[in-house]
Amino acid sequence: RDATTDWYEIVQRRADVELLPGVSTRILGYDGVFPGPTISSRSGRRTVVRHLNHTDVPTVVHLHGGHTPAEHDGWPTDLVLPRSGGHHTHHHVGHVTTGRRDYVYPLAQPAATLWYHDHRMDFTGPQVYRGLAGFHLVRDDVEEALPLPAGDRDVPLMITDRAFDADGALKYPAAEHSAGTHGDFIEGVLGDVVLVNGAPWPELEVDAARYRFRVLNASNARRYQLTLDQGAKFVQIGSDAGLLGAPIEHPALTIAPAERFDVIVDFSTFRPGTVITMSNPPSRGGAGRIMRFRVVRRARDDTTIPTVLARVPRLTPPADAPRRRFAFSRGIVPDGLGGERKGWVINGKPFDPGRIDATPRLDDVEIWTLSTDLHHPVHVHLSPFQVLSRNGHSPGDFDAGWKDTVDLRPAETVEIAVRFTDYRGRFLLHCHNLEHEDMTMMSTFATK
Ligand code: C2O
Ligand code: CU
Ligand code: CU
Repeated sequence: RDATTDWYEIVQRRADVELLPGVSTRILGYDGVFPGPTISSRSGRRTVVRHLNHTDVPTVVHLHGGHTPAEHDGWPTDLVLPRSGGHHTHHHVGHVTTGRRDYVYPLAQPAATLWYHDHRMDFTGPQVYRGLAGFHLVRDDVEEALPLPAGDRDVPLMITDRAFDADGALKYPAAEHSAGTHGDFIEGVLGDVVLVNGAPWPELEVDAARYRFRVLNASNARRYQLTLDQGAKFVQIGSDAGLLGAPIEHPALTIAPAERFDVIVDFSTFRPGTVITMSNPPSRGGAGRIMRFRVVRRARDDTTIPTVLARVPRLTPPADAPRRRFAFSRGIVPDGLGGERKGWVINGKPFDPGRIDATPRLDDVEIWTLSTDLHHPVHVHLSPFQVLSRNGHSPGDFDAGWKDTVDLRPAETVEIAVRFTDYRGRFLLHCHNLEHEDMTMMSTFATK
């Protein structure tokens, strides 16, 4: 332990918690809570998170959005086995530990809203669904020099949808310990109750002032179109990997799984007593109610939204930039029992942890062309990227800034510029619909 490192310890365990009022629900949680504890780091200061596995299943922790060396990135077969045996399958191609593991994060990256979640091969969907997700915020001086809302007025919001059985149990369609996924929920698991920071339809009491909300869609498969009533708007100041160059106003926020939108909402023009509602159009499958903000008092507010937020250099690919294509589609994949089933593939291939699909060189700016058959939110590990074009046109309304996840609708093509830096090793590129991911929509690149 030294003065340049911050230490955290998290105990992964099952716990009975109250998510729905008066109902007990068993979760698989970091420290037994959902969401897990929020970790807070300074940019450039090393953070070590010791995870103790007191559950009965293998786990893997990934820091989503972290600029992390490969051995700490949460490779899907680098399992942390339960401390006391338990019931699990074996893959033989990972760095396996028993009972605990220290994940080391250099965090040499700008301030951003990161999150950590389970990434176990074939079981990420069920294990995140049962609770293994939390925020990890990175702060820096550049951001803190800006007159943005801070303290109690800087609020991370983790949005997830879940389904519950009559007895309050989380209802994930696959059995707890058996093969993670099956054909009947191949499209992804949706719930009919939306939880914000683990609470259904919560109300947040706010001052009549500006607030910063770090909105994360941590749902397995659902996308939201978030709207505010009473004329309130979202002013986006940051994307997945940090501040935007300049703020962007959105009347509604379309957010796919794993994306983060850092937004300012200004409540200063509302009288105390006003309730502003955040919802998702009910046409989107019944999960219409998200949360409410109740303005409780007038308050002093010294914040502003600067017209220039940060210097965001454009990643400009050279004329001879390496180009790669990744096509996301349905396909036939191994069922793990020697047969085949329907699943999801990238460039026609199911994920194989022993295969490397691309070998980008560190520091090169590459152009990647992503294309889809259906809806797929595409996530790249190690380094953030910038969207160059969408369907041959300019980037879309939600493509600005440094991204690590880009949402593709059916039959779309998105070009991104990406530059990997610092760390050599194996990293992942995958669909962040977690059932698609478990049903093998994942590919490996090895930086060299
Ligand atoms: Cu948030 Cu590889 O995942
Ligand atoms: Cu990630
Ligand atoms: Cu997908």
